[in-house]
Amino acid sequence: MRNSLLISLAAAALAEGKAYSPPAYPAPWASGAGEWAQAHDRAVEFVSQLTLAEKINLTTGVGWEGGQCVGNTGSIPRLGFRSLCMQDSPLGVRDTDYNTAFPAGVNVAATWDLDLAYRRGVAMAEEHRGKGVDVQLGPVAGPLGRAPEGGRNWEGFAPDPVLTGQMMASTIEGMQDTGVIACAKHYIGNEQEHFRQGSQENYTVADAISSNIDDVTLHELYLWPFADAVRAGVGSVMCSYNQLNNSYSCGNSYSLNHILKGELDFQGFVMTDWGAQHSGVGDALAGADMDMPGDVAFDSGTAFWGTNLTIAVLNGTVPEWRIDDMAVRIMSAFYKVGRDRTQVPINFASWTLDTYGNEYYYAGEGYKEINQHVDVRGDHAKVVREIGSASIVLLKNVDGALPLTGSERFVAVFGEDAGSNPDGVNGCSDRNCDNGTLAMGWGSGTANFPYLVTPEQAIQAEVLKNGGIFTAITDSGATNTTATTVAAQASACLVFANADSGEGYITVDGNVGDLVLHTVGPVLVEDWVNHPNITAVLWAGLPGEQSGNSLVDVLYGSVNPGGKTPFTWGKQRSDWGTDIIYEPNNGDGAPQQDFTEGIFIDYRHFDKYNITPTYEFGYGLSYSTFSFSNLQVTPLAASPYKPATGHSGPAPVLGKVLNATAYLFPNYIKRIEAFIYPWLNSTDLRTSSGDPNYGWSTSKYVPDGAQDGSPQPVNPAGGAPGGNPALYDPVAEIRVTVKNTGKVAGVEVPQLYVSLGGPSDAPKVLRGFGRLSLGAGEEAQWTATLTRRDVSNWDTVSQNWVVSNYTKTVYVGNSSRNLPLQQTLALKIGH
Ligand code: NOJ
Repeated sequence: MRNSLLISLAAAALAEGKAYSPPAYPAPWASGAGEWAQAHDRAVEFVSQLTLAEKINLTTGVGWEGGQCVGNTGSIPRLGFRSLCMQDSPLGVRDTDYNTAFPAGVNVAATWDLDLAYRRGVAMAEEHRGKGVDVQLGPVAGPLGRAPEGGRNWEGFAPDPVLTGQMMASTIEGMQDTGVIACAKHYIGNEQEHFRQGSQENYTVADAISSNIDDVTLHELYLWPFADAVRAGVGSVMCSYNQLNNSYSCGNSYSLNHILKGELDFQGFVMTDWGAQHSGVGDALAGADMDMPGDVAFDSGTAFWGTNLTIAVLNGTVPEWRIDDMAVRIMSAFYKVGRDRTQVPINFASWTLDTYGNEYYYAGEGYKEINQHVDVRGDHAKVVREIGSASIVLLKNVDGALPLTGSERFVAVFGEDAGSNPDGVNGCSDRNCDNGTLAMGWGSGTANFPYLVTPEQAIQAEVLKNGGIFTAITDSGATNTTATTVAAQASACLVFANADSGEGYITVDGNVGDLVLHTVGPVLVEDWVNHPNITAVLWAGLPGEQSGNSLVDVLYGSVNPGGKTPFTWGKQRSDWGTDIIYEPNNGDGAPQQDFTEGIFIDYRHFDKYNITPTYEFGYGLSYSTFSFSNLQVTPLAASPYKPATGHSGPAPVLGKVLNATAYLFPNYIKRIEAFIYPWLNSTDLRTSSGDPNYGWSTSKYVPDGAQDGSPQPVNPAGGAPGGNPALYDPVAEIRVTVKNTGKVAGVEVPQLYVSLGGPSDAPKVLRGFGRLSLGAGEEAQWTATLTRRDVSNWDTVSQNWVVSNYTKTVYVGNSSRNLPLQQTLALKIGH
């Protein structure tokens, strides 16, 4: 019934003129396209051996706290296949010990260094692998960062699709090369925390917020990095809590079937965010493949899938091929990254750090050694420190105030943000407080710190090494007089400030998961940044466990800063032109967030309206200076774009469904409380479902075409993982000479922007970047390639990418507002 309700809700949305997501069925079945061929064949072979109940065990979580990981599927004991382990987070292994606390995504973006992104991916996956995790729940491309207040922007990379997309791809490659399945999340439009699941403190609304995104904006902005993730071979995608155009993301046949599995030809599996499933049959037919954590509400003992999915197959509402496809997709990802070779037993538990405890934590059963406290850190502190210093953005530096020379006799540090959390480094669960220095945001996107080198500790160690004296005033309640006296005496004063944000299930200091002030993203600095006594300003983001050391590297010049701000710093709040919704705006219906700004977020908005920011996207100083010269733009010949054609094969059916008796709860299994099983409680399906409305109107459960397993036309914009392969044809090569014109070795980030030239286009969009290390006086040539996608627009009429006839211009420089070189791009491609 829930599904029919959803369909009628969508129809109601259409009738009311609200944003609407059209139905798209059937769910495409995996074909083993591209690099997936071998893994797909092995998956088919494996799944062909399974019973219906065993397949359903792969697709359904066992319930919240029903296993040791944050999400756990059922197992297949007959074949020695253990439960799959899903674990947060995008910056390390969550909820354990002897792990590394890596820098957040926003810092990786600030490095503009794909090699560092890859190495962080490898290191994080080594730790997940060592703990027994199958799927690491990251990286994040949603939120992309539509509004600076988005509470989880820092978990992702940057409010630019190209910077985020390339960071996604490198991170995923690093993770999956290491034998762990990555999960690109949260798909899609998950741009704010308020109302992400509907009602929240003080407000009751019937449904979760709807992100209303038009077709062009979806393709050119929010989908773009997910396309890169799919092209990089990501094994899983997490559908989000919010609705997209008034249809829940995990039951949205358009975004899952049509776009993700059709147009992007995604071959892996779609996993629901925790509790983001709202229907059983509906989500299954709309393209969800794995239901997490498996129960309807945490620990309810009831499930949309599990037994109910078995029933749905037996009563014919969900075709068998759809279940086979779910299982094949999950197993394809498993084999693609080599989990059959890299899997070790799960040796940690998310719910307690005690060595002995219950495997089935909620039920209080299965007492054993659940935490072996395996130290998985290796030498990862090195890459943490390297990213920490490489991501520092030097925003201001008057007359070479930095670097410090080490000869400062008295160094004073001010601000709570320089010191330790008095409650201990992990004193606040999931970092749900802002005490002491800030090195990560809050929520599920966190990991426990093994230690945290604070700025106070690291600066003091450096000062002592240099024979100076040191004091730190980290109590925000300290009197002004004390601070003023110390400041008057010190030879160098360093002031620390922070602002925090995180996931909406936690409220910190009255902030329901969204930014008011933050260093997790931009903050308003205009009131003080030009004060003559403030001679230098650094942004250090969320650097993880080596925070202080990374900072000292830059403060004292052993590392020359090369970070560039991955977001724009406006002068006033209104400069960004976007905001989140704080109060319901649709009565008690789903709050409606219309993305009316379209593709114009962050620097695209500032450029369009000619707003001068404090610091523009891509900006960052160095202790050296650089010049750009000799721009050469070479168009490359490419054949005309060919829309993909043809048909899929028929949906493969890999087993034989028996009658209900074969799926009765086996008498040799002892039930665990609230655990989700695939089996029936009775051969009478209605009784087994326990649903008083069972069979109320079977026809309404099944949208048109959803059960159709016959060959389906290929999406013309698709044809390979990541979209039509011709989109990635190189169409121009860009060369430029970058010279270090200063006196010290340093790092520069050449940035390539393109104007697509049309009246609806942004003045310019980032399309490429690099990171060059150059000695004093040294020069190097930097080369970048533009692909067809880079110069295309999404055409809503042909439902494909087109290269417009407008004149295109290429710009190169070292920030979105400092682009000394430009040239017209005369393309040589048929269009
Ligand atoms: C909800 C969060 O949105 C998601 O990012 C996370 O992976 C799951 N919870 C599991 O903790």
